[in-house]
Parts: sequence; C-alpha cells; structure tokens
Amino acid sequence: MPSDIPVIILAAGRGERAGQAEGPKQYRMVGGKPVIACTLEAFTDHPAVGKIIVAIHPDDESLFHAATQDHADRVTFVHGGATRQASTRLALEALAEGFPKFVMIHDAARPFVDAGLISRVAAALNGAEAVLPALPVSDTIKRADEDLNVLETVPREDLHAAQTPQAFNYQRIRYAHRLAAEEGLDAFTDDAAIAAWAGVAVRIVPGAVDNIKLTWARDIAMADQRLQISATFPDVRTGNGYDVHSFEAGDAVWLCGVSIPHHKKLSGHSDADVGLHALTDALLATCGAGDIGTHFPPSDPQWRGASSKIFVEHAAKIVRENGGRIANADVTLICEEPKVGPNRHAMVTAMAAMLGIDPKRVSVKATTNERLGFIGRSEGIAAIATASVVYPGSLEE
Ligand code: CTP
Ligand code: MG
Repeated sequence: MPSDIPVIILAAGRGERAGQAEGPKQYRMVGGKPVIACTLEAFTDHPAVGKIIVAIHPDDESLFHAATQDHADRVTFVHGGATRQASTRLALEALAEGFPKFVMIHDAARPFVDAGLISRVAAALNGAEAVLPALPVSDTIKRADEDLNVLETVPREDLHAAQTPQAFNYQRIRYAHRLAAEEGLDAFTDDAAIAAWAGVAVRIVPGAVDNIKLTWARDIAMADQRLQISATFPDVRTGNGYDVHSFEAGDAVWLCGVSIPHHKKLSGHSDADVGLHALTDALLATCGAGDIGTHFPPSDPQWRGASSKIFVEHAAKIVRENGGRIANADVTLICEEPKVGPNRHAMVTAMAAMLGIDPKRVSVKATTNERLGFIGRSEGIAAIATASVVYPGSLEE
C-alpha cells in the first residue's frame, strides 16, 4: 500500500438540505464531537495518510479552527469554491508544490469512513489510476417523468452507488479538473466522474455500508444517536493464539523477542520464537486476518532464520490499518526450561516496543507442565497468547 498519501477533505458546502439554523452540517455535533472532527480522525489515525488539506468556506474559518484544534499540527486549509467541483480543484492546486504522486479526496460530511475502507482504497492505487469505493445498488430503480409516472425499471445488476474517499494519480486528476474548468463544465458531482470524463479508467473497490453522507437533518440525528451508542458499547475484540516448537541442539532459545543462552535451541523455519508466533495469531484473530501462515508461508525461503519480531510488527500494522488500538497482550510460556523469570522484564519491554504500546499493557507468564507429556520431557515449548483490541464503531452495528 502506498504511504504518505495527501488527503483533501471537502468542507466548503453550505449544507442547505440539512437545514442551516444550527450552522453548516460539517460543524454540527454528533456523539459530542463536530462531524468534521470525526471525519478527520479516521485519516489522522491511518498509517497510509500524509498531509491533510481541508477546503472550507471563507465564512467558516473560526468554526473550522474550533472544530479541528486537536489536529492543528496535521491539518491545513484552503478556501473552497462555489461548487464541490471547484472546491476540489482549488485544494488540488494547493497541493501542487509537494509534487504528490497520489491524492485521496473525501467529503467532510461522511464521518463514518473507517480505516478498512481507507486501506482498501489506498491499496488499489497500486494497480489503478483512479479508485472509487462503491456499493452495488440494492433497491429496484425506477425512471419516472416530472409527474412521477413511472416510465421504466432500470436494470440494477451493473449499478453501483459511489462513495468517498476516492483516490487518484495526482497529475491525472489535476489535469482532468483543469480541463473540465476550462471547458466550463461544472456539473460533476464526484471526482471519479471527472476522471472518467477525461479518459482515466476508474476501478471500483467495495465501499462500506456505514459510510453514509450526512445530507438531511435526520441523517445528523441518526449519526448522533449511533455515536452515543458506540460510546456505550465499544467494539472490543479478543484473539487467541497457540504454538509449539521442539528443541534441537543449539546454544540459545528465542522467547518473546529475547535470546536466552541455553544448551538447546527451538527448531523452526524462522527464529522459532514460539511466544511471538502465538502473539501474531492472537492479533490477526481480532480482525479476521487469517493466521501467521497466511502472511508468512513457511514454504517461502525469505523467512528462513527471520526474526519473529517482523511477524508481530506486521500483525500490529494490519490491526492499525483496520482502525484497531491494541489494549493489551498476554503470553503464557509452557516449558520446563530455560528459566523465564529472569528474562521476563526484557521480554515485556521488547514486546511493548513491537506493539507500540505501554509495557503495562503487556504481560509474559510462564509455567512448567509438571513434567507431564512432551513439554514435561523437555522436548519442546508451547505458548498461548491473548490480545485485546478496541476497534472503532459499535457492537450494535
Ligand atoms: N462541498 C464543498 N464545496 C462546495 C460544495 C460542497 O467542499 N461548494 C463539500 C461539502 O461540504 C460536503 C461534500 O462536498 O462535505 C458533499 O457535498 P454535499 O453533501 O452536497 O454538501 P453541501 O453542498 O454542503 O450540502 P447541500 O448540497 O445540501 O447544500
Ligand atoms: Mg451540495
């Protein structure tokens, strides 16, 4: 997935359909926060995102500063134009001096954008010049005349409802916008339409059902309710992992990121760190991302002798790309030897660094197997791991 992608957030509209008595919709409060703050958070927390530029209405400067003060270091603004299309073009021009390769464009009025969607769109940039998240249309679609007499039913098999964030090769979309402006065309309602008009192939990736655009007053009321509920029932998930490696002749055992001098080593394709392998599986389990073998097939020679730290860091990155925050990680090592106790502190420190969390959120425990079975005969070591991760959104979904 590309990284450091600049993001344009469009927030220069007036929100007429939502009713303006309480101000433009992008600054209204939902779940105790301005809509635009929710939207920005999804992007500031995402590892693929670089600088963020917001197109705002010239009248909204103080609203904008008040709503985005938590993100002041990451976010700049530009004055937008009279149409969404003009706002995008002005923001695209403002990015020009950074010579970006890609750009992502998103409506401020879609605060439920999630990390998984941002990741899907960003990843698709590797094979496409324009990426559009969209959902297949599920309602039956009718064409009608002005008096609402139905003229026909439109086949919906090949219809898709467009969402944002959309992502583009920067030069291609800037050129498309310039061309449209020069030709006086200003009725495009999204950037994928401008790209397609300019001859750029647009690739669809699956959108997200929750990623609705707040358009009407009732959308804002619904968003508020939903965020209140998700604050009450946070989406906390738990994953477990289990692994075993046998001993062979050697001089040190890798356990939980620490090399312990010993008269044996663990046998395996990588450094055979049984604790970190179990932890990798536990992390992946929290977002349905398969297991360690899915990501690092033992048949692949590049993992021969690899440090298992790589596996844990990769799993933690996948968790973050899905919007997860790791709450804690716990590993139990089951072995008769070597002694874990004297190394426990170093293990916790190493794992906390790999996960990017406070050492207080990491635990390593050890137990013998009371001399029973293969572990009791010191033929190998087993490990069990548990990870808890908090994901955005609500259990009510
Ligand atoms: N937008 C913009 N500049 C404009 C018009 C719209 O940046 N001149 C932004 C809006 O702020 C919004 C997004 O484009 O985040 C999608 O547009 P829409 O939902 O139509 O918002 P508004 O134009 O504000 O609403 P309305 O059409 O009801 O007035
Ligand atoms: Mg509008």
